[in-house]
Amino acid sequence: MTDSLAPEVVEPHLEGRFGKPYLYEPECASTQQLLLGSGLPEGAIAVTDHQTGGRGRLGRVWEEPAGTSVLVSVMLHPPPGRHLPELSLVAALAAAEMVEGAVALAAQIKWPNDVMLNRRKVAGILSELEGKTVVVGIGVNVNQTREQLPLESPIEPASLRTATGTTYDRAALLGSLLVRFERMYDVWREEGLDGLYGGLGARDFLRGRRITVDGRQATAVQILRDGRLEIETDGHVLETIESGEVLFER
Ligand code: BTN
Repeated sequence: MTDSLAPEVVEPHLEGRFGKPYLYEPECASTQQLLLGSGLPEGAIAVTDHQTGGRGRLGRVWEEPAGTSVLVSVMLHPPPGRHLPELSLVAALAAAEMVEGAVALAAQIKWPNDVMLNRRKVAGILSELEGKTVVVGIGVNVNQTREQLPLESPIEPASLRTATGTTYDRAALLGSLLVRFERMYDVWREEGLDGLYGGLGARDFLRGRRITVDGRQATAVQILRDGRLEIETDGHVLETIESGEVLFER
């Protein structure tokens, strides 16, 4: 196994439009930065084996030891008038299916952007909007040992390795992720999130859990067909949440 995500290693695993062109740096600050402002066509991706300034949601950092993760950003030019936050869920579904294909365990999606395995976070999505383009960044913890995972995270992290005791070929995982993401993005373009709702609803991690949303306690009801989260407040009022930080009781 060649442990690099260099294009010549990953290209045999690529099938469609996503991955063309393929920008690769062995190390960079953030793959998001490589694509934002690049003017590249839809399907362009940026990949690295190590980020020195990896970006997470809500201004957090995304850290990994070199050579342990799948770190990719994908350039999208979605049709006008669409609800773009849905793209994080589309990417999360693709990542969840990729993880399941690799580890043969059920993965869940924690609204709005995390992939969970055994109640721990194995992947995160960061979507950044720039004009009419969206750069969707996906980070998957693959071969980290327990000691190599971040100590301080709002959600306990895991890697595919800590979940199963096995190491994985990151290039094959990246190929699988991109093929799935492209297929799901095409469904989303044609049918919206409704076309993916079966897979999404079945993997809704928060459904029925006690949660804290931006400091308020509630119970998560479900991810709705428009990508928002329905919650029931402790005063038994149904509300929908557009975005925000949701913490859950383990
Ligand atoms: C989160 O869970 O907060 C989102 C994490 C997103 C991390 C990925 S890694 C590839 C891409 N480049 C970045 O700097 N961030 C995203």
